[in-house]
Amino acid sequence: MHTLLALLSLAATCFAQIDLTCAATNLFCIESRVRADQALLELPNFVTYPIQHDPFYATPANLSSAKPGQILKLEVNTNVTAYDIPPGQALSRFMYASVDNFGAIVPATASILWPFTPKSFNGSNSYPLVAWAHGTSGIDRQCAVSNMRNLQYDFRSVFTLASVGYAVVIADYVGLGSDHFFNYLAYKLHANDVVYSVAAAQSVFSELSASWASFGHSEGGGVAWAIGERQAFAPIPGFLGTIAAAPPPFPIANVAPVGTSVFTAFLSFTISHLYGLNLSTIFNPAPLQALQFVQSIGGCNDAGYSAFTTFTADQIYSNTSWPLSQAAVNFARDYSVGGRALGGPMLIIQGSNDTVVGTVGATVGFNNTCTAQGNNVSIEYVSVIG
Ligand SMILES: *[C@@H]1O[C@H](CO)[C@@H](O)[C@H](O)[C@H]1NC(C)=O
Ligand SMILES: *[C@@H]1O[C@H](CO)[C@@H](O)[C@H](O)[C@H]1NC(C)=O
Ligand SMILES: *[C@@H]1O[C@H](CO)[C@@H](O)[C@H](O)[C@H]1NC(C)=O
Ligand SMILES: *[C@@H]1O[C@H](CO)[C@@H](O)[C@H](O)[C@H]1NC(C)=O
Ligand SMILES: *[C@@H]1O[C@H](CO)[C@@H](O)[C@H](O)[C@H]1NC(C)=O
Ligand SMILES: *[C@@H]1O[C@H](CO)[C@@H](O)[C@H](O)[C@H]1NC(C)=O
Ligand SMILES: *[C@@H]1O[C@H](CO)[C@@H](O)[C@H](O)[C@H]1NC(C)=O
Ligand SMILES: *[C@@H]1O[C@H](CO)[C@@H](O)[C@H](O)[C@H]1NC(C)=O
Repeated sequence: MHTLLALLSLAATCFAQIDLTCAATNLFCIESRVRADQALLELPNFVTYPIQHDPFYATPANLSSAKPGQILKLEVNTNVTAYDIPPGQALSRFMYASVDNFGAIVPATASILWPFTPKSFNGSNSYPLVAWAHGTSGIDRQCAVSNMRNLQYDFRSVFTLASVGYAVVIADYVGLGSDHFFNYLAYKLHANDVVYSVAAAQSVFSELSASWASFGHSEGGGVAWAIGERQAFAPIPGFLGTIAAAPPPFPIANVAPVGTSVFTAFLSFTISHLYGLNLSTIFNPAPLQALQFVQSIGGCNDAGYSAFTTFTADQIYSNTSWPLSQAAVNFARDYSVGGRALGGPMLIIQGSNDTVVGTVGATVGFNNTCTAQGNNVSIEYVSVIG
């Protein structure tokens, strides 16, 4: 009875803290609910908060002399006390060099989830390598998957892959973990990060298989697709193929009015960074400051959701036509996937009822690729009912 009352009072407190009635102009109210939401849903899953307190994520001086795919830091046996990984699995972390949109060297972090026993192919005793490309986790460096107790996906992908014998290399993507701007939804940049995480991991762990496959979901589905495209013009050895689950090949639709998804608002930060979109000309002041607040406290997806909750597009934006801007059009042109050659086979898996990603994008991307590449690509689209 005592416990029940305690739970009830906790629930009552929490309910009062998540205030859905904030006016879209009341920044103080919005910031309070962002903090409450972060405390309830995000802080318990971080290994280190703030992430800057873990020296692993600090960029070392020898980055400047590194080549893409070279190791900068290696932690072979990560202390998993603070993680929730399954018994029998182990974790490594490493920092390595990747490249940005200018071809400049940038710092990236990744982890490797190790199986208890490797799955054997063709009698080999090496650890078969899957490069996992994760979905949206947030846009602040705090939102690195290697800094989440459940590695973001738990048994929905990474734990299950390791449980059946794969070594799972999980790139955080430059700017998540590492001290750098995170270009959210810039698939081909995250594809660089994944491909170089594979090369870096193989360079220090000889037990990893030479052949590898990539597998990603949502944002990571777009990344998995971009990896297939990258392998056609800049291959690294050993690529067996890629699996894109719920990929949005077109990270933004150049249509108006814009929707209310916080993911689209997150994306405007990337377009601002890469193409100079002026955020103060598209957002109303309080919602923009609310998103900047989310970042300043290391807030991730849930903190982002709670910044906007029920706001309409007109409440969030001063200009709901911003996806028609030249900056957004240029971003879509340069960072969408589909229609291009692939360096190996690709499997697309799409839930027919997926309301977060939607089915149209993957179908159009699939059609574009088959139309443009004919029999030169091996690509299969599996629609999963529900
Ligand atoms: C950077 O320094 C670390 C630590 O001394 C070393 O292990 C790593 O190999 C170096 N990487 C490069 C690219 O110089
Ligand atoms: C691992 O981390 C836990 C909790 O932070 C700590 O108590 C323990 O001493 C660490 N173990 C090692 C071997 O460093
Ligand atoms: C196993 O061998 C077959 C035949 O040589 C090859 O096609 C396949 O890619 C190999 N599998 C792996 C995981 O290397
Ligand atoms: C962005 O727009 C604001 C408001 O119109 C203006 O004051 C500011 O100078 C602009 N910033 C840049 C970098 O153009
Ligand atoms: C809104 O943005 C669109 C696309 O950039 C632009 O054409 C339009 O002039 C803007 N509207 C206002 C009122 O600034
Ligand atoms: C994709 O192509 C198929 C077969 O030609 C067609 O039935 C379908 O309508 C197309 N889907 C889209 C979204 O274009
Ligand atoms: C397929 O590849 C062949 C050989 O590279 C090339 O000649 C042909 O034009 C390609 N077909 C398409 C539809 O791209
Ligand atoms: C998919 O959505 C439709 C329409 O909302 C619903 O009737 C159907 O039960 C859903 N199917 C599954 C498998 O969830």
